[in-house]
Amino acid sequence: MPHFVSPSILTADFGNLEKEIRMLNESQADWIHLDIMDGVFVPNISFGFPIIKHIKKIAEKPLDVHLMIVDPDRYLNQFKDAGADILNVHYEACLHLNRTVSEIRKLGMKAAVTINPHTPVSCLKNILPYVDMVLIMTVNPGYGGQSFIMESYNKIAELKNMIDSGAYNILIEVDGGVDLKNASELIATGADVLVAGNTVFSSDDPKGTIAKLKNLT
Ligand code: DX5
Ligand code: ZN
Repeated sequence: MPHFVSPSILTADFGNLEKEIRMLNESQADWIHLDIMDGVFVPNISFGFPIIKHIKKIAEKPLDVHLMIVDPDRYLNQFKDAGADILNVHYEACLHLNRTVSEIRKLGMKAAVTINPHTPVSCLKNILPYVDMVLIMTVNPGYGGQSFIMESYNKIAELKNMIDSGAYNILIEVDGGVDLKNASELIATGADVLVAGNTVFSSDDPKGTIAKLKNLT
């Protein structure tokens, strides 16, 4: 299966958001990754519903929404209404994760569970039958432009093994420090979806960089 590319707009130019989204529409990006931070689950605050709604009006690609917020159950409906197609909740932020992912699916969105770098893949064993995707954080969440944590390769391989042995239909997404140097190895190890923020938006040619991430050799 060819892999997907989901550029994160966290480091995009928010003064020209419409232009950035149109560039993604024209690019080979498969999804658009939106990072929602509440200043509690992570030390940073990003953006909320008005921006997501604005993006939804322009975007021609599915919105891959990554919630770095405590107790996301409070807002599932509102993220659906704002335009989320895929909703990622953190394992560490959900007390009743099974209920949360079931609710996300009931609302008509794809459900994804995200784990922090310190959270072992084995924690996911009992939730795998209920999710469409697992997002492995390859940096500590909160900021763009951080360095990739090398231990992540072992986690991707372990998760891939779990998914294959259970014959689940689940994508593996990776997020944080993804660049043109590590992308091929990430795919070879088992990643299906590459999130990339800094690599795309700090490059001189974001569209060209997305094409490179999509057509790895
Ligand atoms: C980090 C976010 C990422 C971030 C990735 O907390 O979840 O999606 O935008 O940025 P880069 O690709 O710059 O590491
Ligand atoms: Zn993210």
